[in-house]
Amino acid sequence: MKILVLNGPNLNLLGLREPELYGSRSYTELTNYVNQTAAELGLEVEQRQSNHEGVLVDWIQSALGTADAIVINPAAYTHTSVAILDALKAVALPAVEVHLTEPDERESFRRVSYAGLACEKRFAGQGFLSYRLALEYLREKNLECGMRNSE
Ligand code: DQA
Repeated sequence: MKILVLNGPNLNLLGLREPELYGSRSYTELTNYVNQTAAELGLEVEQRQSNHEGVLVDWIQSALGTADAIVINPAAYTHTSVAILDALKAVALPAVEVHLTEPDERESFRRVSYAGLACEKRFAGQGFLSYRLALEYLREKNLECGMRNSE
């Protein structure tokens, strides 16, 4: 199972960026954590980060035919981007929304999630663990589908 893991704007500054909210670990540490978790779970992951909405849309589109599922932390675009929502709907791959913090417990403008409307699951407020929970969820779901298909 191949999973495209996408991270949106400012997540490249993890470690420096508001560490009281996002923690002291860097984006490289996050990608290492996700790679390690994926290896443990027997999943293949491709990880990408961009500060640009259109680039994220292009990468979502590129998942068609190349990935089985998407894990996405759209960061600030969560709360603004109909384009990312539409791209997720267009490719119609299983998608999971992740956040390091819990946006619902922050400013009211973070309570809207456009991307979330096209995601079947959300893991938030658990730091790096949110990404692990998303990978575990997709692996579990894939195993269940495999079992059903072999019945
Ligand atoms: C975030 C939450 C968003 O509200 C914020 O804009 C981010 C990061 C998170 O991972 O907690 O950039 O997606």
